Amino acid sequence: MRAEIVVLAGDGIGPEVTESAVAVLQAVAAAYAHRFVMHPQLIGGAAIEAEGTPLPAATLAACKAADAVLLGAVGGPQWSDPRAKLRPEQGLLDLRSGLGLYANLRPVVPHPVALTASPIKAHLLTGVDLMVVRELTGGIYFGEKKRDANSASDVCTYSVAEIERVVRRAARLAQRRRGYLVSVDKANVLETSRLWREVTNQVVHDEFPEIRLEHQLVDAMAMHLIARPRDFDVIVTENMFGDILTDEAAMLAGSMGLLPSASLGEGTIGLYEPIHGSAPDIAGRGIANPFAAILSAALLLRHSLGLETEALAVERAVSDALYAGELPSDLAAGKPVHATRLITERISERLRAGQSAIGDLRD
Ligand code: IPM
Ligand code: MG
Repeated sequence: MRAEIVVLAGDGIGPEVTESAVAVLQAVAAAYAHRFVMHPQLIGGAAIEAEGTPLPAATLAACKAADAVLLGAVGGPQWSDPRAKLRPEQGLLDLRSGLGLYANLRPVVPHPVALTASPIKAHLLTGVDLMVVRELTGGIYFGEKKRDANSASDVCTYSVAEIERVVRRAARLAQRRRGYLVSVDKANVLETSRLWREVTNQVVHDEFPEIRLEHQLVDAMAMHLIARPRDFDVIVTENMFGDILTDEAAMLAGSMGLLPSASLGEGTIGLYEPIHGSAPDIAGRGIANPFAAILSAALLLRHSLGLETEALAVERAVSDALYAGELPSDLAAGKPVHATRLITERISERLRAGQSAIGDLRD
């Protein structure tokens, strides 16, 4: 198949990890006879420097016309002044909302090799397989913001329709997994959470009666995620709770550098990005962990292009790399550290070799 993919490298380690993801996608294209046409565009701090805005109109237009969007990371210390008018992160938020990508899927499956990198005891981590569905275009991130000399406010709003659509998406995922859905809110304090809970009950009761639904308060959930992560499966929550809980969940996997994400809406277009940030402290040194970006490319193959075999091949190649000890600095824990490009090259080789082996068998 032919696919048009917009590549938004962004800031910090963004360019390095997207280079890896693109190389792996091109290895997939070569091995499986696809054609992936890459369209680089500006976002974030890089776009502020070049165009004076974190999301240039040309970037949004290119993304709307594409089959999928691959993103590295945005942000950095040079744009972090609290009084700054232009923020790299705003470009990402406007892109998510401009493309209507309201459901952010963040799978958390600790890899056996990375268990030692996790600060959590290994016996709590075996068998953990979570899918966090974070609402991505509503809530406090997108409410009215105000500031005067003595006060500031951020408004948190959710409509029934916004809650319904993301809960439906999570419930459909739960149907295909363990039939168990946990919704996270703060219904003991927040009105938006009380609405969230009512609507979630209604959607699951009316449309997914076979699903076991449970509610957790976000503070308790933060604790349960560490104390008994294996007990959970699909977790659905609002925008800011999802942001915070998935950084916490990343520690189950051993490193932020291992967690990919897919942001989806109604159509097949999606935005695929690691959940980690731009890591300015290690940017440009060739040592960034490319696994989250590569795994995000696997999600792109699965969700936007419908290429499940290819997605699984990428995921297997990443797993093989971890088993082979091809580890970046954040996972090496005393073992030899592998550079970003070397890890990428090995994964690409595995993909090319794996597919030709299948070809040989068929001949
Ligand atoms: C994430 C990030 C973003 C968010 C930032 C960069 C705006 O933390 O994707 O989790 O808060 O959504
Ligand atoms: Mg975050």
